[in-house]
Amino acid sequence: MTELAHLFSPITIRKCQIRNRILSSGHVTSFARDGLPTDQHVRYFERRARGGIGLIVMEAQAITPHCNPLPTVIQGWRDEVVPWYRKISEAVHAHGAKLFAQAWHNGHQNTSFASWVHSQSCSDVPSAAIGEVPAVMDEEDIQEAIRQYVALALKLQEGGFDGVELHFGHGYLPQQFLSPYSNIRKDRYGGSLENRMRFGMEVIEAVRAAVGEDFVVGIRASADELIPVGLTLEDMKQVMPLWAKTGKIDYLNITVSTYKSAAVGIPPMMIPPRPFVFYAAEIKQLVDIPVFAAIRINDPVTANDIIKNNEADMVVMTRATICDPDLPKKAREGRLDDIRLCVACNEGCWERTEHGLPITCMQNPEAGREGVFEIRPAVKRKKVLVAGGGCAGMKAAVVAKERGHDVALYEKAAELGGAILIPAKTASRQELGQVVRFLKHELARLGVEVHLNTELTPALVEKIKPDVVIVATGGTTVDNPAPDVVGPDAAIQIEPGTPVVTAEDVLEGKATTGQRVVIADCQTYMKGLITAEVLADQGKEVTVIMPMPMRLLRNAPYDMDGPTMGIQMLNLALRKVKLVSGFELKKARPGNVVLKNILTEEEQELEADTLVTAYWRKANDRLYKDLKVKVKELYKIGDCVASRRLIHAIYEAYKVAMDI
Ligand SMILES: Cc1cc2nc3c(=O)[nH]c(=O)nc-3n(C[C@H](O)[C@H](O)[C@H](O)COP(=O)(O)O)c2cc1C
Ligand code: SF4
Repeated sequence: MTELAHLFSPITIRKCQIRNRILSSGHVTSFARDGLPTDQHVRYFERRARGGIGLIVMEAQAITPHCNPLPTVIQGWRDEVVPWYRKISEAVHAHGAKLFAQAWHNGHQNTSFASWVHSQSCSDVPSAAIGEVPAVMDEEDIQEAIRQYVALALKLQEGGFDGVELHFGHGYLPQQFLSPYSNIRKDRYGGSLENRMRFGMEVIEAVRAAVGEDFVVGIRASADELIPVGLTLEDMKQVMPLWAKTGKIDYLNITVSTYKSAAVGIPPMMIPPRPFVFYAAEIKQLVDIPVFAAIRINDPVTANDIIKNNEADMVVMTRATICDPDLPKKAREGRLDDIRLCVACNEGCWERTEHGLPITCMQNPEAGREGVFEIRPAVKRKKVLVAGGGCAGMKAAVVAKERGHDVALYEKAAELGGAILIPAKTASRQELGQVVRFLKHELARLGVEVHLNTELTPALVEKIKPDVVIVATGGTTVDNPAPDVVGPDAAIQIEPGTPVVTAEDVLEGKATTGQRVVIADCQTYMKGLITAEVLADQGKEVTVIMPMPMRLLRNAPYDMDGPTMGIQMLNLALRKVKLVSGFELKKARPGNVVLKNILTEEEQELEADTLVTAYWRKANDRLYKDLKVKVKELYKIGDCVASRRLIHAIYEAYKVAMDI
């Protein structure tokens, strides 16, 4: 027995024997093309099954053309899905994992913008998060939807799946019927709790009757909608036992939220781990079927404790196993330090789903690219020097070493980590430190030669005579917002004597500010907003002048996924930070700054004791230029190409290290 014996004890659900308590819950991968699964699905799920997971619940399968918000959704109502289901189930079963999939009707959480087929719901109440008015379902539509749930379940059965999970959570159609927030019907499907439960109960009855006694039928449902007029835990403590009492469902997968509160359903790193396990624990006391706990459970020790403490019977570790598909195997072998822990950044997974793009992982570029990106031994062993010990440099060194190259990494600072260490030292982004921890661990595990306090200079390169140099020297902070540094549009005219500091200096504790602080946030990423949080925690009165809100590719000022942005906004609101949108900061002088309305160009003054500037850094490519004619195989990666997000740096590092 390993130390994590509870996590690795098997469980039987109906007749389905599952080898351990870890599951990957349904997550839209956006691998589908023309409404059908692809070989990428097969490889992706095969990889996770190979990593030792007990159960995979495949992503939401649309049961009807009324549920078709993006072309990357799987159109489970079509017969052509069945051969794909077979391929996927064979691949997963070959590695000993079990496989269910979600039956999904999103109701008013839908848009017909892509599909041209109208949305439908219990009432014509649009979702606050989507805005499209759905058609009211009459009795015929309701019976049709029930038949569609059944049809999907039968297709999964035919395709060799072990079960179906009815998606009753996250504000989808069955939850819309159940919730007073969305159901204003006056007939037998609205009003009393019994009436609001009717649709879900009819789905349960019909699906069980169709699939017979051996097939698993589970429910994923929100134990709390977490909105003022929505379903509460007290409501769901009545509803869930009634579902269980039918004897027709086999487990409850407990989640939270509806779309209006979706930020907590896929929470960012600012929310501490295992925030909602207590919901599962509460429900578990009331039912005699297995209960799954979910959301931001990213390490096996926590997962084991949840099972050990009888808080749940299985543990959802979805992003955790996107990030490291071998987590179950490593945990079972007691190799806890070898696990690449998900840091809940959402950059590679959820954020890309929001854009209808295939998922990957910020830390693990192989995720979503299985079969294309995988470590291959180098054809010829080369002497590789990496300049820069930030995340890009470390990742490149790790991958090159894994491929069999002879690698040495040079970092001029006293510690590894680079620019990411700055946000990682703040309370809300401390989890980014895990990215650095893991890469450092990998360097040590693989025996990469690391030289700290040592700058890789052209002279040193000449002396060592490597085959390859990878330059990952990062960027430099912009501390002078002059037109010839940041461009005339983003420039700020600063009068002599005006206190101005950079966001980096504030975050690193190298600069202090006056009481009234204005942040000119020109970065569209996290720097300005984290600085606002830090200064507000110091008791300062903070105003953030946000980047341009009406951008073409993203109608929002920041490049962040919805959940991260939602919680970021909450953090700032709780700290009384003022956010100003639609203005540019053009001038700063002692005592105030001048803002210009981006549409009318009208100017107005705002009192300020200190101006904080937050710009993207400037590429530091000096070494690359110096080596250009001296080294034949020379690459640059990450911020020294152009300052961008961490996901780009790690992707480029992987790609370059695979090419040498
Ligand atoms: C890319 C992505 C897509 C998701 N799509 C679904 C989905 O199709 N059905 C569902 O029930 N939940 C979906 N979720 C939510 C996850 O199932 C899970 O509940 C959530 O990620 C929190 O668990 P975790 O912290 O273990 O990742 C999705 C999450 C992600 C990251
Ligand atoms: S992209 Fe971020 S949130 Fe998503 S799996 Fe990777 S580390 Fe976790």
